[in-house]
Amino acid sequence: MSMTPEEVRAFYDAHRTVRQYVTNDDGTPIPLPADHLDALLHAAQRAPTDATAQLYSLVRITRPDLRARLVDLTTNAHIATASEAFIVCADVHRVTRVLDVTAHQPGHWPAIAVHFGIGDAVMAGTNLLTAAEMLGYQGCWIGGVMNGLDGIITDLNLPAGVLPFAALTIGRSAENTPYRPRVPRPLVIHTDAYHAATDDEIRTAVEVMNPIASRGGLPGDWARLMNAYFGEGGSMTKREPVLRAALERQGLAVERMDG
Ligand SMILES: Cc1cc2nc3c(=O)[nH]c(=O)nc-3n(C[C@H](O)[C@H](O)[C@H](O)COP(=O)(O)O)c2cc1C
Repeated sequence: MSMTPEEVRAFYDAHRTVRQYVTNDDGTPIPLPADHLDALLHAAQRAPTDATAQLYSLVRITRPDLRARLVDLTTNAHIATASEAFIVCADVHRVTRVLDVTAHQPGHWPAIAVHFGIGDAVMAGTNLLTAAEMLGYQGCWIGGVMNGLDGIITDLNLPAGVLPFAALTIGRSAENTPYRPRVPRPLVIHTDAYHAATDDEIRTAVEVMNPIASRGGLPGDWARLMNAYFGEGGSMTKREPVLRAALERQGLAVERMDG
């Protein structure tokens, strides 16, 4: 099966992150037809995987009370209304069990676990979302899991070695979503060696990205948005101890090796 370059571009240009979904009249989620759901889960499991290990798990959230709880923990309301909601996790628990059950001794590799586990989780989740878009749905990744990692680990009964990466919601879009820009290609796609952006190139990238931060028709300020996330006192500095605690709790903390 192949597509033309124009068809590939058009398919990816149709991508929108969507946070409002078509629901039943009472606001409850409309389930996906069983064959659609099956296709999405198949796509997730067909993702390539380093070392053949499949170091990820998806927890499908169906119970309304659990959906409501995850809305609170992640501060993303669409978890309650989406047709499907998943917590996408890095998972090295299962491979450890494979070694245990087959009478092998698991090694100690927490940094590798995070590297491989997050990679595999992202690839499976991306396959799932792309398959959903092929079927005419849209979705939203939710890094907001970082706001409530401890509660999520407890409520989903995640064993040591399993770490939520993000949630992922899927459904039919009920919103008119703008096409969101990306930074200019030369700053992202490098040829043969890394090209460190000049100040002017960075300023141009900010200009290009400003519309993504626009709210209520007002001009956007992407650098201000980046500052709110990554600047001093921004949300990432608040998430840092939460993630470190979760890594510790799940047996994935990387200790210093130099003694
Ligand atoms: C890992 C990841 C985490 C994200 N977390 C959130 C989130 O917590 N809440 C949200 O509303 N959108 C979230 N998003 C969606 C991004 O805001 C969105 O992808 C970005 O604005 C680009 O828009 P587009 O996907 O429509 O092109 C996340 C996206 C990714 C890939």
